[in-house]
Amino acid sequence: MSSRVYIETFGCQMNVADTERAATGLRKAGYDIAASAEGADVVLLNTCSVRERAERKVFRRVGEVRKLASAARKRPVIGVMGCVAQLEGEKIFKTLSAVDMVIGTQATDRISSLIERAQNGERSILDLDERRENEVWDVSPAERRSPYVAFVPIIEGCNKFCSFCIVPYSRGREKSRRASEILEEVLRLRSLGYKEVHLIGQNVNSYRPKALDGLEPFTGATPFSRLLRAVAATGMERIKFTTSFPRDFHPDIVSAIEECPNLCDWIHLPVQSGSDRILKAMRRGHTAADYLKRIERIKSSRRRLSLTSDIIVGFPGETEADFEATLKIVGECEYDALYMFKYSKRSGTPAAQLDDVVTEDQKTRRFLALEELQTSVQARVCEGYVGRQVSVLVEKKSTRSEDDMMGHSTCHKVVNFKAQRAEPGDIVNVLITQAKPNSLYGERLHP
Ligand code: SAH
Ligand code: F3S
Repeated sequence: MSSRVYIETFGCQMNVADTERAATGLRKAGYDIAASAEGADVVLLNTCSVRERAERKVFRRVGEVRKLASAARKRPVIGVMGCVAQLEGEKIFKTLSAVDMVIGTQATDRISSLIERAQNGERSILDLDERRENEVWDVSPAERRSPYVAFVPIIEGCNKFCSFCIVPYSRGREKSRRASEILEEVLRLRSLGYKEVHLIGQNVNSYRPKALDGLEPFTGATPFSRLLRAVAATGMERIKFTTSFPRDFHPDIVSAIEECPNLCDWIHLPVQSGSDRILKAMRRGHTAADYLKRIERIKSSRRRLSLTSDIIVGFPGETEADFEATLKIVGECEYDALYMFKYSKRSGTPAAQLDDVVTEDQKTRRFLALEELQTSVQARVCEGYVGRQVSVLVEKKSTRSEDDMMGHSTCHKVVNFKAQRAEPGDIVNVLITQAKPNSLYGERLHP
């Protein structure tokens, strides 16, 4: 019988994509992919280290998996993969003695041979090496989370080194995937019945492949906006992309969205802070005014574009006045949704050297104040959808009511709606009748 491997995923979409890619390779190598840790021969934890709390989860989970051993069965082989693996490396074997394999972020394609070594009795197996040239990025549909929505990585890594962020260290330098390969994958997904792709990367708009093959027929001010037009030309019904980096956000991205109806009306553009002093200390490479200029183009688009962002409160040295500036920019931008984080010190990053720390109490207070502001902003923004039609990709039955279905709109909102005959995978028009704090509610319109 073949070995059963369970992969548990924490963190961002990049990790989800890596898990899908790892599972594809493992199945090709003859392994079965298990649906839970119980009964699996191998458990891989694909970890996140962006904030301390995410990192702590790994420790807890390894302890739980270790206990899965029983009288009849040895405990599974345990591997830590992803960002914690890349950053902590060999140290993991010391702190977590049950871990057999530490698999870095670039080792996704080599996991089957690492498992083989572990199953042959080798301990403390470590692979922090780089990806090999010409690695396959292919993901088999069987390993994808959804049969309708697919994540397609277009760029890996990050060169920006924002002073608070661990990602450049855990994910390495930016490496863009060839456009011709991306386009082939999107076409294949389309022929398999996928309705939506998310082009993903730490900074999608920093996309810069070595050669422009596949993009020749497409115009654009940057390789990324050419890629957007090229992906749109595949005919894939809905195309979303995330995350965009403000400094590299060229207005031509908005022009491409205006031209191509299948490029979705949603932009995630994290600002992090509204204070120029803090933005400088964060090394974001833009001021509040630079950011607002980009927002102006987004807001003045012919299509109404939904806008979301990330904010960190309590960066070292953040004063009340700095925080007020954050409240101000959040008020001005009128985000459709906002992901708020308390600053978490990541050792090895430049910000970890700063000692002017904001107390935990102050962080909490600022977090709550920001949340309160965003709640009222968001209520107003969502009210603006009432009476409008949105296009929804149906995902599943609503958890609240048997008669309702849920899905995401092109503007990336959760929409619940009354509909008897809608099936997962359908794209339907919904008339919004009600705005809830984190979702919209409506009725299906029949064509
Ligand atoms: N460009 C990336 C950002 C990666 S991290 C992307 O693809 O989303 C996601 C968010 O986590 C960041 O935008 C930031 O708001 C938050 N974050 C990163 N490092 C953090 C830290 N040390 N403390 C708190 N939040 C952090
Ligand atoms: Fe992190 Fe800044 Fe890159 S937030 S992922 S270093 S753009």
